[in-house]
Amino acid sequence: MSNPRNVVVGVAGGIAAYKACHLVRDFKEAGDNVRVVPTANALNFVGAATFEALSGQPVDTGVFTRVDEVQHVRIGQEADLIVIAPATADLIARIAAGRADDLLTSTILVSTCPVVVAPAMHTEMWLNPATQANVRTLRERGVTVLEPAHGRLTGADTGPGRLMEPAAIAAMARTVAEHGPLPRTLEGLRVLISAGGTQENIDPVRYVGNRSSGRQGFALADIAAHRGATVTVVAGATDELDTPAGAEVVRVRSTRQLQEEMTARAGEADVIIMAAAVSDYRPETEATSKLKKGEADDALSTLRLVENPDVLRGLVDKREAGETRAVIVGFAAETDNPLEYGKAKLARKAADLLMVNSVAGGRVFGEARNSGWLVARDGSVAEIADGSKHVVAAEIWDAIEKWTS
Ligand code: CTP
Repeated sequence: MSNPRNVVVGVAGGIAAYKACHLVRDFKEAGDNVRVVPTANALNFVGAATFEALSGQPVDTGVFTRVDEVQHVRIGQEADLIVIAPATADLIARIAAGRADDLLTSTILVSTCPVVVAPAMHTEMWLNPATQANVRTLRERGVTVLEPAHGRLTGADTGPGRLMEPAAIAAMARTVAEHGPLPRTLEGLRVLISAGGTQENIDPVRYVGNRSSGRQGFALADIAAHRGATVTVVAGATDELDTPAGAEVVRVRSTRQLQEEMTARAGEADVIIMAAAVSDYRPETEATSKLKKGEADDALSTLRLVENPDVLRGLVDKREAGETRAVIVGFAAETDNPLEYGKAKLARKAADLLMVNSVAGGRVFGEARNSGWLVARDGSVAEIADGSKHVVAAEIWDAIEKWTS
């Protein structure tokens, strides 16, 4: 769907309502038309003037204002995307019950566009069977209810129930708008993903390593978590990225550390994705003090490298030895003949799927978008069109899912 979209940002009465201001700005900066529809209680936390100034559109809560414009029907009919953040337990219950007792619930009931719900409440309320049943109801109806973040809640409590960060909500909402709702078909699956670049120390200040922002691996983790999987990410060096919702993140530095962490967890995993840009070589020795330029042995200009283990191949071998049953997915970054080299690499690595990117001219690294081909062990090739790394991740998961059943 192209810009500008008509985005409705629904805001319920929770302390996290202030974060909706950032969400409105995010959509406005992307060129979307944004209409904020708060509940009456939301305005106890953020004033209507703030939302009006940020969105450039009027803000109402009830169905009896601007009656001549039939707002309670029109806003929902014209919406391309509805994002509710924060969604309280009460609002989720009202939507699940099909209520239309204010402008926001009327708008949702009228709409036929994708609806994305970002919950925020105390852990007890989130885990309460009543809320969980309401969430299931909404998911069954095709509403994407995102997983709340874990962390500090109002007061001293911590646990699941925190509102996701606005940028992460916007990324997921755009993914749903472009790709469709996120089905919960990964529930019960344990997913192990490597991400980022590994680095091999030369001395205490220098290293050799591979370029990688970690974005594609983290996006795969995000999508898997919001589709119900239990996710562990083993991450080398990455850009500053929000931790994927609910995922355990294990930090590593070198290829051998990454291999150790991945191998230790492989037996438990149902799906393993090697999205990390693994440093193929490491210095033969790591100097304990900083090497000096121009010294007699000139260790820097004649750096001797030794080959690192192939982590992906090792995981496939582990499966062949019956030590894991996981579906195994690799990545290939190629500068030339990407599809041809990609197919050969898949055969060499004996993985189930390989996502092949063209990285000619430094493309992809650190960028928000990606594209390429998914080549599969059965010989099939699916083109992945240019899209955000989250949309590409959603497509990769659709393909992986066919291998997990
Ligand atoms: N990979 C790995 N261990 C390595 C090198 C790569 O597990 N030592 C994984 C990567 O995470 C990726 C896949 O193998 O999933 C392909 O990585 P790539 O760097 O494209 O392939 P290489 O095997 O290193 O081949 P080349 O660099 O010669 O293209």
